[in-house]
Amino acid sequence: MTRYQHPLAPTPLRVGLLAALLAAPVAAKPPVYATPAETAFVDALMAKMTVEEKLGQLNQPPGVGNNTGPAAMAGNEDQIRRGEIGSYLGTQGAALTCRLQKIAVEESRLGIPLLFGYDVIHGHRTVFPVPLAESSSFDPDEVQHAARVAAVEAAAHGIHWTYAPMVDIARDPRWGRVVEGAGEDPYLGSVLAAARVRGFQGDDLRKPDAVLATAKHFVAYGAAEAGRDYNVADISERTLHEVYLPPFKAAIDAGAQSIMASFNEIAGVPMHAHRPLIQDLLRKEWGWDGLLVSDYTGVMELMPHGVAANREQAGALGLRAGVDVDMVSQIYVKDLPAAVKAGRVPMAEVDASVRRVLNAKYRLGLFDDPYRSCTPDGARERALTLAPEHRAAARRMAQKSMVLLENEGDVLPLSKSVRTLAVIGPLADHRRAMLGNWAVAGREEDAITPLEGLKAALGDKTRLIVAKGADIDSQDTTGFADAVAAAKQADAVVMFLGEHPDMSAEANNRTSLDLPGAQEQLALAVAATGKPVALVLLNGRPLSISRLKGKVPAILEAWFPGVEGGPAIADVLFGDVNPSAKLPVTFPHNVGQVPIYYAHKNTGRPPSEQEKYTSKYLDVPWTPLYAFGHGLSYTTFRYDAPVVSKKTLVPSALQQQVSVRVTNTGKRAGEEVVQLYVRDDVASVTRPVKQLRGFQRVALQPGESKVVTFPLGFDDLAMLDDRMQRVVEPGTFTVFVGGSSDRTREVGFEVADR
Ligand code: GLC
Repeated sequence: MTRYQHPLAPTPLRVGLLAALLAAPVAAKPPVYATPAETAFVDALMAKMTVEEKLGQLNQPPGVGNNTGPAAMAGNEDQIRRGEIGSYLGTQGAALTCRLQKIAVEESRLGIPLLFGYDVIHGHRTVFPVPLAESSSFDPDEVQHAARVAAVEAAAHGIHWTYAPMVDIARDPRWGRVVEGAGEDPYLGSVLAAARVRGFQGDDLRKPDAVLATAKHFVAYGAAEAGRDYNVADISERTLHEVYLPPFKAAIDAGAQSIMASFNEIAGVPMHAHRPLIQDLLRKEWGWDGLLVSDYTGVMELMPHGVAANREQAGALGLRAGVDVDMVSQIYVKDLPAAVKAGRVPMAEVDASVRRVLNAKYRLGLFDDPYRSCTPDGARERALTLAPEHRAAARRMAQKSMVLLENEGDVLPLSKSVRTLAVIGPLADHRRAMLGNWAVAGREEDAITPLEGLKAALGDKTRLIVAKGADIDSQDTTGFADAVAAAKQADAVVMFLGEHPDMSAEANNRTSLDLPGAQEQLALAVAATGKPVALVLLNGRPLSISRLKGKVPAILEAWFPGVEGGPAIADVLFGDVNPSAKLPVTFPHNVGQVPIYYAHKNTGRPPSEQEKYTSKYLDVPWTPLYAFGHGLSYTTFRYDAPVVSKKTLVPSALQQQVSVRVTNTGKRAGEEVVQLYVRDDVASVTRPVKQLRGFQRVALQPGESKVVTFPLGFDDLAMLDDRMQRVVEPGTFTVFVGGSSDRTREVGFEVADR
């Protein structure tokens, strides 16, 4: 069988040619490369540095008050004066960062400025919806803008470096950190990784509102066995390359200046000691020369992993693997100077990492302007924090992030002239739930709750009856009576149920995907009143709510929607905004189906209800409760049959166009996320039944239709063959187009074998 390799696929000749090309200016989208001026500056500076000062640049202690991991000794000012700190974790605020910067620049021997790193994951003080919510928007421009707003605020607070975007693909919703990423799909994850990098870094790193982006956690952190955070990831090389690596490559191609290593091992090798993936793949094959930082005490954790007997060995392994910056454990700065002087750790390895730290500071312009965030009275910080346009962006993002899962009988949108509205549930007025778990600098007092949003939208002409009904996570049902009584008195009911924000994110894993506590029973009791009931979910992972299907007519997935979550929920509930988001992650019927994702393999015995001996379950359907890409609207859309521009592609012209007419067949204007999936029908290795290869948001007035066109090229049709070479194999392909991965129309074409 003939295989068509990418025009630039690495072969000996091509690698040689590419190396020659790299000497010349490279076309758009190169990985980060040091310019001659940068190299000369850094060379000259390094020539003056002692071993201790070099290792100091690799040291990143936590700042005072950092709260993103186990407590650890903060880096002190005398260490700055001795040149033993290169950057700080978790220190922010223009006044504090400028004071520390002044010590570094004016009181240390070489005056090398500090980098201030911080977890700005989905907003700084203007907290946006959690990343899984933002990803539900399928709107890269909006996601990029959210990251831009976060960078502007973070930079005003003295931050140079955010540890975001988190780009880990997650296919096990028991894992708490599913909330932090873009869900289960490498294509969507890659598009959004690039958008977030562009947003954080802006168009010029030397601008005072640019922050270094960090693609994390490298790599396959989301493959933690049993969804238990920090657990082993035992995956095939194919899965590593097809599922977990692509978002990192997309982040690097978008110019990401930093990558954070992950806590997990892959097949026996902890990532903080993984030379093949860091030195050989990231550095050599992908040519990336950015800054690789440990995750928290990841270097020190090589000891409990059982690959290092002591701190020096852990440090030596980390440095040799290419972990440039040692966050928190201070091993590089305390345990390696003697090892370097004794020749147990090569100076060349130290120099390689020091160079990358100094490159980063150079690229930010810190050697020219170390006080870029220091306005005398913090005026810039005050002017930009929670600025009205930032809150407006957060509200818009939240509106676009809410997924309408069910809407039987068009219960939604509610009318604002409703006379009596029951507001039920433990999350109706839960301020912290608006922020989610990783809103480090976020403050509860900045958030507007759903109840407050409803009151603002309805004014005083609607009577609200508020009943908590149940706790988030207890079996206490004594509140049910009040909740049911409230529902019976009302014309309509809105319930706010879900998870506590501390039930997802780091180390917050669950073995159940059910609504916690007695919330499901509460929902069923309220629904049994027969009133028009809408359920708003506030949660950080897919939930197994199949027992509510058919009982609760309207279900809106709002995730943790940020400081403007309350108003945005009201905007959607009353129809001021027509929901348009789609699920970036599959919702299972129950946790027993996990892992379950749309891009699954067909197997030799694909599931069939008619055939016993096929791949399915006895107790639940083999299909999900809600599929990847699912999301309803207050209007309806019709897809005509898709058409391709060519029924046969020839090897020299692997370009295809797929067009589909989409019509708004309802009575309201609405936006539809049109999704395109591809299947390689027969190949030299098994292929997923479909893979996302394009999506477009299209706005349509009632009755309006538009033809949406998708280009398909080599990258969309390529696969890794049995030799792990990226090729397009001849044969037939099927294209699926629709409003969800499980509701599509299809068309075929073929790639000729010559
Ligand atoms: C945490 C997280 C990582 C975060 C880092 C610094 O352990 O794993 O995502 O950026 O430490 O807070």
